Amino acid sequence: MEQKLMIDRPLILVGLMGAGKTSVGRRLAKRLNLPFCDADEEIVKAAGCSIEDIFELYGEGAFRDGERKVIIRLLDKSPKVLATGGGAFIDDTARKAIKENGISIWLRVPLDTLVMRTENRGGRPLLKDQDVPATLKTLMEKRYPIYETANIVIDAVGDTPDDTAEAIIKELERYLSQSRTQ
Ligand code: S3P
Repeated sequence: MEQKLMIDRPLILVGLMGAGKTSVGRRLAKRLNLPFCDADEEIVKAAGCSIEDIFELYGEGAFRDGERKVIIRLLDKSPKVLATGGGAFIDDTARKAIKENGISIWLRVPLDTLVMRTENRGGRPLLKDQDVPATLKTLMEKRYPIYETANIVIDAVGDTPDDTAEAIIKELERYLSQSRTQ
């Protein structure tokens, strides 16, 4: 479907693991005719190894350094949809760059949905060999007050990625018309 919405800066999807940032981001980009980037994929490309290997070989601190650099590089002001890893918006420097250069969109998803989407799936070192519901709950408590500062909050409860992309477009229309009148 063709959209009339004029996007002049990056749209950054934030939220916990399993929130659907990548799958929603791809659909949103397609609907808005914008390029799509996934920060985690870019980190893997830059490091030449998987996220699990980065954590294992160099530690979480090294992953966060790489993540921050990649995000700052991708926020070159050109319009695009950028899906970030769950911790990206929690980093003060990355969050400042996101806020200065783009529109942040938090996908708020209930705990049981996050658990269903992430349990028994590899590739996420923070959940590896952990009690997934308890770990995600702790991350929610720590991170939700920060995600809450995003420009747009979308409650993606039980929706398909296409429904969520559509809900984002509606909120973006509202957000952009509000910022024009301010
Ligand atoms: C992380 C989320 C992951 C990935 C890394 C750390 C986090 O991305 O960046 O494993 O700190 O929440 P997704 O949110 O895409 O799973």
